[in-house]
Amino acid sequence: MSTDAIVLLKNDHKEILKTFRDFEKLGPDAHVRKGQLVSRMIELLTVHTYIENEVMYPRVRELLPELEDDVLESYEEHHVADVLVMELVAMKPDAERFTAKTTVLIENVRHHIEEEEKEWFPQVREGLGRKQLQEIGAEMTEAKAKAPRTPAAPSALKKTIDAVVK
Ligand SMILES: [Fe+2]
Ligand SMILES: [Fe+2]
Repeated sequence: MSTDAIVLLKNDHKEILKTFRDFEKLGPDAHVRKGQLVSRMIELLTVHTYIENEVMYPRVRELLPELEDDVLESYEEHHVADVLVMELVAMKPDAERFTAKTTVLIENVRHHIEEEEKEWFPQVREGLGRKQLQEIGAEMTEAKAKAPRTPAAPSALKKTIDAVVK
């Protein structure tokens, strides 16, 4: 099984984007289904953010300092998504702003995923060798196993608070 870091992250993206499309297909009154899909979306985003924040971004920052600005921008984009996710978690699916907030989350994350896949990953692949990408991938697979599944889990929550306070 390939553990190429970029392949792993793209697989995550695919799964996340699928929940976005499924959400968008639902009618305005499908509150139960919307609630389920948003929970799934949040779980996927929480795990994905964890492995990128904990492994991918710091490793790339260290190995390819010329990509540092992109990494810093990525942290900020993830932070915006984290804030929306924290608010969504506290909201009932039939609340007036639930669909609007989810839509803004989807727009933000889609933009971020597109930037990663179209601009950032190609530069990372060019800068790092196959072996390094495999090693980062293996490290991310390990991190995934212990990643928080919900944003309420202490380490994810602490990250958000730290980012706001710092
Ligand atoms: Fe990201
Ligand atoms: Fe990503």
